Amino acid sequence: MPYCSPFGAFIHHVTHFSMDLTNRDSFGSKFGVIAAAAGSAIGLGNIWRFPYVLGANGGGAFLLIYLIFVVVIGIPVMMSEFVIGRSAQRNPYGAFRILAPGRPWYLVGIMGVAAAFMILAFYAAVAGWTMEYLYQSVVNGFSGKSAEEMSTMFDTFRSGSARPVIWFLVFMVMTSCIVMAGIQKGIEKYTKVLMPVLLLLLIALSIRSLTLPGAGEGLVFLFKPDFSKITGKVVLEALGQAFFSLSIGMGTLITYGSYIQKKERLGNTAVSVSLTDTFIAVLAGVAIFPAVFAFSIDPASGEDLVFKTLPVIFQQMPGGYFFSLIFFLLLAVAALTSTISVLEVVVANFTEEFQFGRRKATVLAALAISVLGIFASGSWSWFKELDIFGFSVFELLDHTSANYMLPLGGFFIVVFVGWFMGKPKVSGELSSNGMFPVRYYPLFLFIVRFIAPIAIALVFLNSLGLF
Ligand code: PHE
Repeated sequence: MPYCSPFGAFIHHVTHFSMDLTNRDSFGSKFGVIAAAAGSAIGLGNIWRFPYVLGANGGGAFLLIYLIFVVVIGIPVMMSEFVIGRSAQRNPYGAFRILAPGRPWYLVGIMGVAAAFMILAFYAAVAGWTMEYLYQSVVNGFSGKSAEEMSTMFDTFRSGSARPVIWFLVFMVMTSCIVMAGIQKGIEKYTKVLMPVLLLLLIALSIRSLTLPGAGEGLVFLFKPDFSKITGKVVLEALGQAFFSLSIGMGTLITYGSYIQKKERLGNTAVSVSLTDTFIAVLAGVAIFPAVFAFSIDPASGEDLVFKTLPVIFQQMPGGYFFSLIFFLLLAVAALTSTISVLEVVVANFTEEFQFGRRKATVLAALAISVLGIFASGSWSWFKELDIFGFSVFELLDHTSANYMLPLGGFFIVVFVGWFMGKPKVSGELSSNGMFPVRYYPLFLFIVRFIAPIAIALVFLNSLGLF
C-alpha cells in the first residue's frame, strides 16, 4: 500500500484484526460494540446534516417527528439489523442469501451497496470540507472575520475548482487505507476516547452559543413545534434523517451485528447507540441554532449552515483557536469512523460475491465512488450547470439515498425479521438463546410486523401526496 504510507504507522498501531469470513472477529467488550456502532452512527449526520435539514424544515415540529421516528422505527430497525447480522454471520448480501436461500431478499443487500456508493460520494465530499476547515483552523484563517465574511469564505472555497475535490480525494484515500487494512474494528479504541471528547466540546460550544445575545430565539426555533410547518416533505425528511443518522437501512449494522459476540444483548445495544446518537444530534442543534439567530444567519440556508455558523461561534469564544482546531479534528475523525463503515459494506460484498481480494475490492470500490464523488463535490464549481430533475448531483445523492433508499431498505429489513425469519430465530438472537429475558419481545414483534412497515409506507405515500 505505497500511497497509504503516511498513514501506515497509525494503521499498524491499531491493526490486530483481520477481516476473514471464515474466522470472524468479534468486538471485545460491551463498550467496544457500542463504540463501534456509535462510531458509525455519530458523524456528519449529527453535526452537519441534522441541523441543516431541521433548519430547512421549520425547526421544532421536525424535531418532534424525528424523535418519534427514532423510537418507533429507528430502534426496531437497528435491532433487526443486528439480529440478521449476528444470526447469519455475514455481510448484508450474503446474510439474506443464507437466511432466505433462493429468494429475492438479497436484492435488499444490493440496494444497500448502491446506497453505500451514493452516500460515500457526497459524505466524503462534506468530510473534505471539514478537512479544509481543520486546515483553516490551523492557519488561523477565521481570525477577525465577521459572520458575513465567514459565509463568503465558505462560498468561495466551495465554488473553487480544485480544493474541495482535492480534500474529498484525501478523505477517500484515508478511508480506503483503513478499510484495506481491515482494521475498522481496531478503530473502536480511538472512538472510545475521542467521541466523549467531541461530546465535551459540543457542550462547551452550546454554552457559548446559549449565552450569546438573542440566543433564546434559536431555542424556540429548535424546541417549540409549529405544527403548521408539517408537510409531507417535512415528515419524509425527518424519516430520512433518522435513518441516515442511525446508519440504518443499508446493512451497515448487519455487518457490524455479525461481529457482536453471542453473549451481548442486542436490544440494549441498539437502544444505547440510538439514544447516544440522538443526544449528540440535539446537542449539535443546541450549539448551532442560538448562534444562527444571534448572527442573523438563515436557518434554512441548506448544506452550508453549519460551516457558516460554527467558525463564528469559535471567534466569540475565549480560546477559540484551540476549540476550533480540536473540534474540526474530531469532526473529521467522527466522519472517518462513519465513512469506513459505509465503504466496508461495499468491500464486504465485493470480496464475498466476486472473490476479490480485500485490497482489490477496496481500490475498485474507492475508485468508482471517487468518480461519483468528484461530481458531488464539484456541484458548486465544475458541474454547477448540471441539473438532474432540478437537483445538483450532490443534492440528488443526498436526498435519494437518505429519504428513499434507506427507509425502503429499513422497510424490507423489518418485514423480513417480522414475517420471514421465524420467531424462534429472532427471539433466540435477541435473548442470546435464552440467556436473557426479553420481556419486550411481543412489543418488538408487533412493531416490526405492523407499526414500522406501515409507518414507513404511509410516509412514502404521504410524500407523494397520495392522501
Ligand atoms: N450515520 C452516519 C452519520 O450520521 C452516516 C452513515 C449513514 C453511516 C449510513 C453509515 C450508513 O454521520
